[in-house]
Amino acid sequence: MGQAQTEQQRRQYLEAMGIQSWSLRQSQSADETLTSTETVVSPTIQAESAAPVAEKGIELPAVVTDWAGLQAEVSVCSRCELSQHRQQTVFGSGNRNADWLIIGEAPGAEEDAQGEPFVGPSGKLLNQMLLAIGLKREDVYIANIVKCRPADDRDPRVAEAAACEIYLKQQIALIQPKLIFAVGRIAAQNLLKSDQKVGDMRGQRFEYGETKIPLVVSYHPAYLLRMPSAKRKAWQDLLLARQILNNE
Ligand code: URA
Repeated sequence: MGQAQTEQQRRQYLEAMGIQSWSLRQSQSADETLTSTETVVSPTIQAESAAPVAEKGIELPAVVTDWAGLQAEVSVCSRCELSQHRQQTVFGSGNRNADWLIIGEAPGAEEDAQGEPFVGPSGKLLNQMLLAIGLKREDVYIANIVKCRPADDRDPRVAEAAACEIYLKQQIALIQPKLIFAVGRIAAQNLLKSDQKVGDMRGQRFEYGETKIPLVVSYHPAYLLRMPSAKRKAWQDLLLARQILNNE
């Protein structure tokens, strides 16, 4: 796919998700991740003024959605009360050019401590699930519906998920995944704006919003740890996801 086409597609992604402005995707290596010392390009997502990009001679519209700016914005977010209890935000990690985007619920204690999603027991199982279909963790991008740990690990509230949605939408626009794999009820219900149970949503091909990115729902790894007999269905979901991706 040519660069012009890629940018056009990305603009469509952003527009479809209600994000009015966009910037060029940074060319980064597969495993590159931001560090806290990286230069902040765009500190304010809601900024009104345009930000020109001199090196390419392209004028960016008002909202700049580059990775550095987005991560900086998330790191100081106080859009909901989850920000009051966190140790740090858990932005997301992995391959920013990934075909697969795995979306979970919310950081837990270990994620809150380390600043990375799915690093606790659920994460270890998720890694194994990915390896089972030939994917390394570094091959995919992993994010959550909310970027801060809910106190006592309760479910994120509707308002909290809504407050955080703008960040996830921008991550999706930047990654342009070929497939979203939503693990667990909170992820599936928020992404699909549904109140169906996971058991009723899994095993099917959905599409994410107006972007129409294929989306497959499966069980949350934490549920699979409690209910190992459901692993067979999760495996089927992974195979379905891979089949969809290979046929797109
Ligand atoms: N559970 C999730 O949904 N996300 C994490 O990052 C960790 C556990």
